[in-house]
Amino acid sequence: MPNITFTSPEHRDKTVYAPAGSHKDTILKVAKENRVPIEFSCEDGECGTCLVKVTVIDAHKKKHAGHLTPKERTVLKELKKVTQEELDTMYVDDLAPDYRLACQCIVRDEDILVEYGTGELS
Ligand code: FES
Repeated sequence: MPNITFTSPEHRDKTVYAPAGSHKDTILKVAKENRVPIEFSCEDGECGTCLVKVTVIDAHKKKHAGHLTPKERTVLKELKKVTQEELDTMYVDDLAPDYRLACQCIVRDEDILVEYGTGELS
């Protein structure tokens, strides 16, 4: 059962336990259920409002490796949070970029730190 720690310069850190077997839950869904105020708008991977930075807390694990949806790839490129070269490398190495869209990123069985708050991310 993964621990998800949400951190923001404007709010106190909050660590929550994602429910077991929640392999369909997005970071945004878990945040909303736990009253973590990540900004969002479309909830469909199109606007980029829910941009977060995701770090795997266990240093022995690889970077968060959940696959990006096509919409997420497009928006992250538009926001210049990932390059085409990085996207290409991700598929070879099964890695994910630091920046994700909370409404698209599925929670996996790994402890992660989620940084949110537009001021620090832009
Ligand atoms: S809320 Fe629009 S991309 Fe996530």
